[in-house]
Parts: sequence; C-alpha cells; structure tokens
Amino acid sequence: MRRFAGQTVFVTGGNKGIGAGIAKRFAEEGAKVAIAAIDKDTPDTASKLADMTGTEVIGLVLDVTDGKAVQDAFGEAEARLGPLSISVQNAGVITIAKVENLTEREWDLNLDVNTKGVFLCCQEAIRRFRASGMKGRLINTASGQARQGFIYTPHYAASKFGVVGLTQSLAKELAREGITVNAICPGIIHTEMWDYNDRVWGKMLGQYGPGELMAEWVEGIPMGRAGTPAEVGALVAFLASADAAYITGQTINIDGGLIMS
Ligand SMILES: NC(=O)c1ccc[n+]([C@@H]2O[C@H](COP(=O)([O-])OP(=O)(O)OC[C@H]3O[C@@H](n4cnc5c(N)ncnc54)[C@H](O)[C@@H]3O)[C@@H](O)[C@H]2O)c1
Repeated sequence: MRRFAGQTVFVTGGNKGIGAGIAKRFAEEGAKVAIAAIDKDTPDTASKLADMTGTEVIGLVLDVTDGKAVQDAFGEAEARLGPLSISVQNAGVITIAKVENLTEREWDLNLDVNTKGVFLCCQEAIRRFRASGMKGRLINTASGQARQGFIYTPHYAASKFGVVGLTQSLAKELAREGITVNAICPGIIHTEMWDYNDRVWGKMLGQYGPGELMAEWVEGIPMGRAGTPAEVGALVAFLASADAAYITGQTINIDGGLIMS
C-alpha cells in the first residue's frame, strides 16, 4: 500500500523505538517524512531510512520542549518537503522513582517532554494545516499509563493522562475544520525505554535479573507477547489514512489486550 504518496509527515522521536516504526511505515507507504528527535544522530538515521525506502526522509535535531525550536523545525520540514498533512507527537521520556525520592526536576522533565512537547507540536502543526487549508491528522502517543497509573511513576502517568485530555480538547476545537486528533496507548513495546524500565523497576520491585521483570509483565498480557514498533506504526498509519476520516478525539490501546477500557 502507498496510501501517503506525496504527503509530508512529521514524526517526533522518530529516530528509534516506536517512532522509528512509525516513520518507517509512512516512508514505506510513500510519504515524505521529517523525523525530529533530541538525539544528535537523527540526521544519519533519516538518511538510512531514505536509502532503505527510496523516499525523502530528513532528520532534524529538536528538543520538543522548546517552542521556538519546534516552530523552526516544522518550518524547515515544510520548506524541504512541502506542506504538512500529518503530524505524530511521539517523543517521550520516563523516569522511575519512589515518591519521596521523585525530584521536581524529574516531574518537570516528564511533563515538559510528554505533555507540553505534544501540545507545542500540535499547535505548530495546526497553524500550518490552517495556513495551507489542509484537513490534517494529529496522532499523539500516550501510554497504558494514560489509562491506569503504575507504581513509582506518578509523574509519567500524569503526563500521559494529560495527553489524552489535550487530544480530546483539540479534537473538539478542530472537528469542523476536518482536522482529526487521536491518541494511542501502547502497552509493552520492546524499545530502549523498556530496557530502562526493566532495569530500574526490576531493581526497585525485587531481585529481578535482566529481562525478568519484562518477561513477568509480558506473561500478564492476554496475547502473551510484547508488541513491536511496526505494529504501532500500522495503527498510526491507519489513523492517518482516509479510512479513519470519521475518527477523532479517540484514545486507542495497542497492548495485546492488557487494558480493556
Ligand atoms: N516502549 C513502550 O512500551 C511504551 C509504552 C507506552 C508508551 N510509550 C511511549 O512511546 C513513545 C516512544 O517511546 P519509545 O519506547 O520508543 O522510547 P525510546 O526511548 O526508544 O525513544 C524516545 C524518543 O523520544 C525522543 N525524545 C526524548 N526526549 C525528547 C525531547 N526533549 N525532544 C525531542 N525528542 C525527544 C528520543 O530522541 C527518542 O527518539 C514515548 O512517548 C513513550 O512514552 C512507550
């Protein structure tokens, strides 16, 4: 399928993990993709994806918490790839700490990247959709922790519940303009973030060796396995496609049945 031929897509955190799965899916389906992430090797990652898929992919080093930098990055993406029609707000961070040790800095980092960063990118994408008359698509990465808080991560859960709230609010504001806004809630997807979770949660919750906590939690998933970035990419591509034109303000779990609400 090449549902996005000629379209321009912006994907934050698109250089690795879930975001890389999303960016790859769009590139494979013919989109021109701008991946924007804080890691310095993002332009190199973009070049490799361009070579692999034969489509235009650019990599921008961006801190999504910096509003001016967000505006500049979207501007550069449109200048190089053409008017934007899809933006995926996927960049995120997590830290894990017992409540008495959770620092104000950690609280601010999680809320700044996971919630404010999503808002700033949505805001800039909306400005650009309106300027070009585009019935654009916004897709925001929340988390299973936007459904239910987990132990030692009140700041992360708060940041992801916030993503659902801003998604619903923007969906209502933009509905009459034909711009849809949806959120996704991945469960356990094996990425660098989950390597961190396994190590740190595992240590705090007991004597788990490498991979043991993740294996135990995966066992609790009805489908009995972790998900993949490619599977999340497929869901995001569906939400960005013409088939999803009547879907807005929704929050969709992609977790093998872990959370059924
Ligand atoms: N892996 C999972 O199981 C899982 C589950 C639920 C939700 N999520 C969410 O999915 C998203 C991607 O997670 P992942 O597992 O791929 O993580 P990851 O650690 O592999 O990748 C995180 C990405 O975010 C980018 N990033 C971090 N801070 C940034 C900043 N300030 N500005 C710009 N980019 C920044 C990084 O460069 C990287 O590309 C996150 O929002 C995460 O909270 C992941």
